[in-house]
Amino acid sequence: MAQQEVFASVLKEKRVFRPSKSFSKNSYVKSMREYKKIYRDSVKNPEKFWAEKALQLDWFRKWKKVLVKKGDFYKWFVNGKLNVSYNCLDRHIGAGNGSKTALIWEAEDGKVKKYTYSQLLKEVSRFANVLKKYKLRKKDRVCIYMPMIPELAISMLACARAGIIHSVVFGGFSSDSLKDRIIDSKAKLVITCDGSYRNGKVIPLKQNADLAVGKCRSVKKVIVVKRCGNRVKMKKSRDLWWHQEIAGKDIKDKFNAVSMDAEDPLFILYTSGTTGKPKGVLHTQAGYLLYAYQTFKWVFDVKDNDIYWCTADIGWITGHSYIVYGPLACGATSLMYEGSPMYPKPNRFWKIVDKHKVTIFYTAPTAIRALMKEGDKWPKSCSLKSLRLLGTVGEPINPEAWIWYYNVIGKKRCPIVDTWWQTETGGILITPLPGATPLKPGSASFPFPGIVADVLKENGKRAKPDEGGDLVIKKPWPGMLRTIWGNDERYKETYFGKFRHIYLAGDTARYDKDGYFWILGRSDDVIKVSGHRIGTAEVESHIVSHKAVAEAAVVPVPDAIKGWVIYAFVVLKRGNKESDRLKDDIIEHVAKHMGHIAKPEKVQFAEDLPKTRSGKIMRRILKAIAEGQEDVGNVTTLADPTVVDKLKRERIQ
Ligand code: WT7
Repeated sequence: MAQQEVFASVLKEKRVFRPSKSFSKNSYVKSMREYKKIYRDSVKNPEKFWAEKALQLDWFRKWKKVLVKKGDFYKWFVNGKLNVSYNCLDRHIGAGNGSKTALIWEAEDGKVKKYTYSQLLKEVSRFANVLKKYKLRKKDRVCIYMPMIPELAISMLACARAGIIHSVVFGGFSSDSLKDRIIDSKAKLVITCDGSYRNGKVIPLKQNADLAVGKCRSVKKVIVVKRCGNRVKMKKSRDLWWHQEIAGKDIKDKFNAVSMDAEDPLFILYTSGTTGKPKGVLHTQAGYLLYAYQTFKWVFDVKDNDIYWCTADIGWITGHSYIVYGPLACGATSLMYEGSPMYPKPNRFWKIVDKHKVTIFYTAPTAIRALMKEGDKWPKSCSLKSLRLLGTVGEPINPEAWIWYYNVIGKKRCPIVDTWWQTETGGILITPLPGATPLKPGSASFPFPGIVADVLKENGKRAKPDEGGDLVIKKPWPGMLRTIWGNDERYKETYFGKFRHIYLAGDTARYDKDGYFWILGRSDDVIKVSGHRIGTAEVESHIVSHKAVAEAAVVPVPDAIKGWVIYAFVVLKRGNKESDRLKDDIIEHVAKHMGHIAKPEKVQFAEDLPKTRSGKIMRRILKAIAEGQEDVGNVTTLADPTVVDKLKRERIQ
């Protein structure tokens, strides 16, 4: 059963919610008529559309050709030169906005730090000079493993300024995951932090980084930000303190932004796929920047006096595109929060909204559901009157949570943009435009201008309304990934292998009779746990690496708060006894080696797994068992059909 159906059974919401006249009047795209016209023109000639939009950026040299195609590989703005950090900083200062607040940072303990565009440029330039001092050059890789502190954004922008490719690894990942990512990108330098705060506790990031870096020969230096003041070991001749380096007498305030080719790499961001090995999604300079810029501007309808807050972690693509690059490219004020939504109380988000007068708020359905569960008294204890627009991302939002968000947080006054996109797409592809689109709760609605989205059946034909099928994008767009780092073959096969020359998203979707898109969930071996993308193969290989485990299979099961959780079937090696302690140990093993977000919620021991005669594990059957379905479908192809009943009896509720 698709997640959407699980939730739809809770609340069938048929109303359509329109933006108020005053909202529409002041927005960039003011009506459906206007959207339809822009859309029609944009897809008739996407190159013309994007070339026009690209003129909004500052170029060191204009491009010669907007788009060049070679098989399934695309180049945008060929021969153009620019610098992303220049566009995010210098450009606004040049326009007289240097004293505008670029970043507001709130620490978990409530401390606030603000950076104007001029101050941010100075910090970024100084740190770019530190990177230069340690001989990092254009196209080198730097791995950033940090919590949500300003130095994270500063590091990214400093890399962009110097033409260095950054690879941010989410601070919640374990040392093993970090190690794999450093090895794959051959990073020369790692930037990390002594620790990070989460729910008032210190998480020792430097320790994890040490374990990883010890096994990576490419890494020459580690720069450490002092955040928590906890004791850390500093390895002589390798580890450097950020605050000491940045204060160096030889470090200047100015760093000339390096002129980058439009198609030079900007960053690598690893994400989970079908196989065990995470994919290094590669984004390049101009196309990515333009796409983040234009989508941020129109989807969040951002104006000069907005205070915009996206609650994602910068370790994911949402934070890259919609905390750092999109907002700063637009000259907006972007808020960054360090800690947990529940700390010290479940009204923390709403208190931050009131304190900083946040006008645009962007979060994940899982956070909305978790906060909704805490009761209305928390948001009701705050005013929330500064809010004018809300957004969601990461997974389908169930209509019940949508309505709560709309009524209780937005006070029926704020449109909600349900934005569908992926690490690979660089920015938002399917979304309402808040001043134009009548909203249907649970639907991401329509494609952004320039985006040709469709739903295809197995045979490659277009699905009929409500029929459902694979979500695909039929034309290239500037923000799309260019390849998988070091693996062109995997890029072609994963995204263009199923339907010729058509981008396969890996989601199942349908469109309704009015043309609204409804995303139903992943169609591959990826599980969205609290909106985080987890590869089943990766989790399985970590479970199997436990000394007591012979074999494992994991499947998703629906969860009211997290959307989906991981259910693991585990076969032990002979001589090991099943026990709750061993279960906990296996769960902890996954947390330690992969990260907390990948922990199985439920572990069921099994003597055997349902397999075909050729030895293939039948995950479809395991999924049905985990969900508690009476009828698990056809079992005749199984080598031993009797295993099914036993597994059904011992299912973990
Ligand atoms: C997958 C991509 C895009 C930034 C965060 C996640 C799911 C994302 C929505 C939405 C339904 C959504 C899809 C997609 N997803 N947004 N609004 N409605 N599903 O990036 O980690 O690369 O995950 O997230 O399944 O394929 P990601």
